[in-house]
Formats: sequence, structure tokens, C-alpha cells
Amino acid sequence: MNDNLQIRESRPGDATGIEQLYVDAFPDEDLLPLVRELLDFGQSVVSLVGIRENVIVGHVSFTFCHVEGGKDKVALLAPLAVAPTLHKQGIGSALVQTGFKHLGNSNIGYVFVLGDPAYYSRFGFRAEDKVVAPYPLPAEWRGAWQSIHLCEEEAPYEGKLCVPEPWRHIALWTS
Ligand SMILES: CC(C)(COP(=O)(O)OP(=O)(O)OC[C@H]1O[C@@H](n2cnc3c(N)ncnc32)[C@H](O)[C@@H]1OP(=O)(O)O)[C@@H](O)C(=O)NCCC(=O)NCCS
Repeated sequence: MNDNLQIRESRPGDATGIEQLYVDAFPDEDLLPLVRELLDFGQSVVSLVGIRENVIVGHVSFTFCHVEGGKDKVALLAPLAVAPTLHKQGIGSALVQTGFKHLGNSNIGYVFVLGDPAYYSRFGFRAEDKVVAPYPLPAEWRGAWQSIHLCEEEAPYEGKLCVPEPWRHIALWTS
């Protein structure tokens, strides 16, 4: 189904198409400030677009972070969006799986996400209880804080996830 889906790292000229995706996929949330900050953040973000017939149909971002007291890089997956008319065609999954490969190439073996476990469990994400989110999460979101180990031998982490500037807005974690 994804034979004609091309996935590549985003480029500056993709910004308008990426922003439109978030307007369409999140009609009740304004993610544009975050999306713009992440696109400008450069080397510390893996930003991938899915393209079909020259149109951007999906986007995912992984931000490099670290766990308090540790020096290994880990990643935070978000945001992720697929054009609403093209849901359930495997585009979201292809973006996430391609992102995992990019992270592996950067020796990043641990990924965190704050998202619906009903979706992210399909990739192997499980509830995370040793590493806490950068800000205290509302009680009803605790199960949404998840992680995945991309390589078996990775040592477990413990502590708080330290995030760079684009993620240091408490509203991103509490509302
Ligand atoms: C979530 C999203 C990225 C998935 O993209 P997609 O290209 O449709 O994903 P895939 O095709 O890889 O997977 C679709 C499957 O996931 C399921 N799915 C999607 N969102 C889900 C959710 N919140 N809970 C449970 N299952 C979900 C679909 O029902 C479908 O199931 P199926 O394979 O049994 O048919 C897309 O629905 C989207 O952009 N949603 C709006 C923005 C959003 O919620 N982003 C995620 C932030 S946490």
C-alpha cells in the first residue's frame, strides 16, 4: 500500500506543507509553535516527511534528549501527523519505523513518547515508570507516557527526561 510513499529528512522548503498537515490533523490543537521550533532546531532533531506524488502526506519528529545524570542520547517521538484523508494506509507506521532506523544510525536505543498507548503499543512502546516526563503529567495521562528499547543490550535508565528548549513549555505536558 505504501509502494509510492517516499520518506526522507525534511528540508526548509517543506515547512509550509508540514505546517498544513498539523492544521488538518489536529483541528483542536495549535501545534504550530512547537512544529516551527523543532524544524528550526537543526541537528538535534530527526524530522522526516512522507511524500506521495510530490505532496507531503505525513511528518514525524524525534528530538534528541538525555536522562538526568546520564550522558547517552535518547529520543522523544513527537509530533506525528498524517493527512486525515490518508489515515490507515500505513503512513504513520512507516514514518515511525523509518525514524527508528535513523535513530539506530545515531546510536540512540531508547525512545519516549507521550501518546495514545492503543496506537503506540503496535510499535512495542510500553508504559514507562523509571524515567519520568520533564513536567508532572496529569493523572489521566500517566499511561500515555511510554518508551521503547530499540536495542536489547541497552541499560535501563532512571530519572527525569531532560528535554531541549522547544519542549520546555509546561503546557505541552499538561494540557
Ligand atoms: C495517529 C496517526 C498518525 C496514525 O497515522 P496512520 O497513517 O493512519 O497510521 P497507520 O496507518 O500506520 O496505522 C493505522 C492504524 O492505527 C490505528 N490508530 C490510529 N490512531 C489510533 C489511536 N489513537 N488509537 C488506537 N489505534 C489507532 C488505526 O485504527 C489503524 O488500525 P488498523 O491498522 O487496525 O486499521 C494519524 O491517525 C493522525 O495523524 N492522527 C491525528 C494526529 C495524532 O493523533 N497524532 C498522534 C499524536 S499522539
